[in-house]
Amino acid sequence: MKKSNILLIWSLAFASLFACAPKTEPMSTYPIIPAPVTITDASGHFTINKDVQIVLVGEKDAAAKAAEPLRLLLAQAGLEIPFGEDPNAQDVIIFELNPSLDIPAEGYQLDIEKRKVHIKGTDASGLYFAVQTIRQLLPESIEGNTAVEKLYLPAGSIQDNPEYAYRGMMLDVARHFFSVEDVKRVIDLISKYKINYLHLHLSDDQGWRIEIKSWPLLTRIGSRNEVGGGKGGFYTQEQYKEIVAYAASKFITIVPEIDMPGHTNSALNSYGILNPGITVPEKTAKPVDRGDLGITEPDDKATPYHTGIEVGFSTLDTDSPTTYQFVDDVIRELAEITPGPYIHIGGDESHVTALEDYIPFIEKAQAIVTKYGKKTMGWDEVAHAKLLPTSVAQFWAKGQNARMAIEQGSQILVSPAVKTYLDMQYDSTTQIGLHWAAYIELDDAYNWDPLAMDSLAFERKSILGVEAPLWSETVTNLEEIEFMTFPRLPAIAEIAWTPTANRSWESFSKRIAAHGKRWELMGVNYYKSPRVNWDGEAK
Ligand code: ACM
Repeated sequence: MKKSNILLIWSLAFASLFACAPKTEPMSTYPIIPAPVTITDASGHFTINKDVQIVLVGEKDAAAKAAEPLRLLLAQAGLEIPFGEDPNAQDVIIFELNPSLDIPAEGYQLDIEKRKVHIKGTDASGLYFAVQTIRQLLPESIEGNTAVEKLYLPAGSIQDNPEYAYRGMMLDVARHFFSVEDVKRVIDLISKYKINYLHLHLSDDQGWRIEIKSWPLLTRIGSRNEVGGGKGGFYTQEQYKEIVAYAASKFITIVPEIDMPGHTNSALNSYGILNPGITVPEKTAKPVDRGDLGITEPDDKATPYHTGIEVGFSTLDTDSPTTYQFVDDVIRELAEITPGPYIHIGGDESHVTALEDYIPFIEKAQAIVTKYGKKTMGWDEVAHAKLLPTSVAQFWAKGQNARMAIEQGSQILVSPAVKTYLDMQYDSTTQIGLHWAAYIELDDAYNWDPLAMDSLAFERKSILGVEAPLWSETVTNLEEIEFMTFPRLPAIAEIAWTPTANRSWESFSKRIAAHGKRWELMGVNYYKSPRVNWDGEAK
């Protein structure tokens, strides 16, 4: 044989050897967000191919809720993995749900060996979050529905559990309305970062977005507007239930908000009887054409639509018994279709409600939420009222209000506008968004700590969690939602999940670059922050 042919054969053999060689870099180098509590490396890898089976152990029905998403993810890559029965077999992925294990709520233990993956947890959410970690241990091509023969997972162990029980995002569907499909897409994207609450801001001055059967004009009139005077929209109760169920399948709980007693013009333009006599700022007022909507009864006290973004001009009539009947009906209907523990009553920026009226209003609304078996959430101003220990104040503006809530025995949800508001512009060149609180670049969104957001510092036990709100005065479609949310939401998710000692911007800024490649495959319109080297080496 000629020397050149021998060389060719050798080099082909060599190339094919490398083509088959899996990536076996240490597990601790994979760009997992949020960063896990502990990662222990081991040598080798687990191969996922058509010979692998998923086996459920312990509380099998609950474990299946976490295993099914992994099965579907692998099927996306052309790997149809069946369920098997024998946990002692080789080449198995075991989901073990056992409440008596020593693993904290929502936590998991993930052990990857050469012939076995073992995921353990004390609840189904822990197992589901382990699946989100596994997703990030798989190559980025998994996000592109590319069919493959096999996939590799690095050997090693992860012990992980969240720092905070509540890790949330808020979507304002009132200033601009977003479809059920858009909300589902948001749920898909945030669930990858172990977010477990989605707060929906369902009513504001510009629009009412949820069907309330006992007050039908809220949707017949109040929903048909948004910022700029567009057509708006609303969710029927069936559609809302569909969102709730979809979120639950990804271990996300919906927190519905009806903002009261301010931010209520969409109720006041539906029912004048709720209006103590407020008017809409003239330059943003748009008449309601009741005739066009087939409503023949006149209503002189009903307000026009508000098409602008000014806040603080509206209030419910806090003296009227009809108002409390309204609040009772709305919360009753909402509680009936909301399996989660919280109903959010807003309470922010009620600038035209006198404090002596505001306080009893909040206390009555809180009592109604309690009567229907739910816990109250409200923006930090609600701390002026007497709060129940089960109520949660959402700290967005004033540390003093947050402290007032804590002194009453309530917990706070930490959402400082200057750090977590996703509608704040990244910098002065950002085309959408506002900047009344701050410009928030990615490192600003990352480099802070919930315990240190007040000059007096909060105690750990006073903090329920962290939420990143996306207000939609300037955000009009899904592309814009994605642009403002990514990459900042993963930064907030890491603050909420990962212990402070494990967090560093240096590490996060490298890991997030790999997520940019995944978002490209998923078609996510993310902001390419100049603080990140997006072309950096990724897995
Ligand atoms: C708020 O940003 N008004 C809670």
